[in-house]
Amino acid sequence: MIESLRQSTLSERQEWIRKASYNLFNLRSEQVFIDLLTDSGTGAMSDKQWGAIMTGDESYAGASSYYRLKDAIRDITGFEYFLPTHQGRAAENVLFSVLVKEGDVIPGNAHFDTTKGHIEFRKASAVDCTVSYAMDIANLDPFKGNVDLERLEQVLNETPHEKLGCIVMTVTNNTAGGQPVSMANLRGVRKLADKYKVLVIIDSARFAENAYFIKTRETGYSEKSIRDIAREMFSFADGMTMSSKKDAIVNIGGFIGFRDKELFRKASTFNIMFEGFVTYGGMAGRDMNALAQGLYEGTEFDYLESRIGQVARLGEKISAAGVPVQVPIGGHAIFIDAGKFLPQIPAGEFPAQRLAVELYLEGGIRGVEIGTLMADRDPVTRLNRHPALELVRLAIPRRVYTDNHMDYVAAAVSNVWERRDRITRGLAIKYEAPIMRHFTVELDLLS
Ligand code: F0G
Repeated sequence: MIESLRQSTLSERQEWIRKASYNLFNLRSEQVFIDLLTDSGTGAMSDKQWGAIMTGDESYAGASSYYRLKDAIRDITGFEYFLPTHQGRAAENVLFSVLVKEGDVIPGNAHFDTTKGHIEFRKASAVDCTVSYAMDIANLDPFKGNVDLERLEQVLNETPHEKLGCIVMTVTNNTAGGQPVSMANLRGVRKLADKYKVLVIIDSARFAENAYFIKTRETGYSEKSIRDIAREMFSFADGMTMSSKKDAIVNIGGFIGFRDKELFRKASTFNIMFEGFVTYGGMAGRDMNALAQGLYEGTEFDYLESRIGQVARLGEKISAAGVPVQVPIGGHAIFIDAGKFLPQIPAGEFPAQRLAVELYLEGGIRGVEIGTLMADRDPVTRLNRHPALELVRLAIPRRVYTDNHMDYVAAAVSNVWERRDRITRGLAIKYEAPIMRHFTVELDLLS
């Protein structure tokens, strides 16, 4: 879809962001010029996807759209059984209702917030075993999304078997900066899973971008197709959860893939309770059609090269201006190190949020804070948790913006970088919710 954009003046933006209590989630979309809040559900669907929407079958049970999606999922992932859900977190909710119970341990490579949320909601714990050098933004390792296999084995070894819910591998590793996981790493995880008899689930939101990085960076894969690589990645897992809003380029949708019929049957009961009947879950027939088509488009090499190339070019421009960013540039977003950008602002004044506000004031660009604000308070001590990095994420929607828009973003970031010394204070909280505060927080600008 083509949508019109509106430019605004600095004084308009100052007024709007003040009224939004310096929380970018509170802005109206028309107050934003370039919206890089997320790459989730914000992609542009193709002519073929819109065409497929017109032929959706809305039957309650056994719709042809369900079978079309089932065939596409089997073809692309190799999973025989699947359940449709309304988005990724719903897939997590249904699957974890079967796999995760109180006291369980779920190791993996930096679980996404909702994944962690669904684990902690069940009084289980998510143990992050991402390689330590992922936190060193200047380290150029090609697979900074990997799990540290030694650390993973240690967790598997220390945990009583009955408390091992499953291993969750997130591809690409969103939290670490859209960084990929290598095939060798997935193979290593499978080996450990077999040794300790535990299931492996792939959180697959950006699986095609991960396959692209394997093709272009890992020895032995340059001649393989994205779809062959994706199938090999999934061959190391027992199941998958999918937020279709990312690599399947639809505005809403998700699913769970299973190899084992028994697990599929158990999850089906929860799907019927939480989402809908097993042949539509949380989706309309028309949306299942668009998703089936999107899975094919999202795994085309030419598309991925252009998409990941656009993200990389933006990252390189920002980096060339001297701005500290996570490198190598990830698949879906640029992660700016706000701790290094604004070292004069203490973590308690939310430097990454201050930078996100500043980018909005500079150019009407909306990014998202991934730092102390998002990390929330410790549930016991109620003190702010300070993550290793204070980041601002600029996530690029798929097939939406041109390189000209990206050049504008790079120029705005560079303008803020040049006047960074004059930004001396951060923000103070006026109101916050007890959990997931960053969505609804209200802040004052300190001066
Ligand atoms: N897993 C990963 C790796 C994700 O990035 C997301 C969402 C989800 C699961 C949940 O999927 O939104 O469909 O329920 N990430 C978005 C983001 C929201 O902005 O990174 P969902």
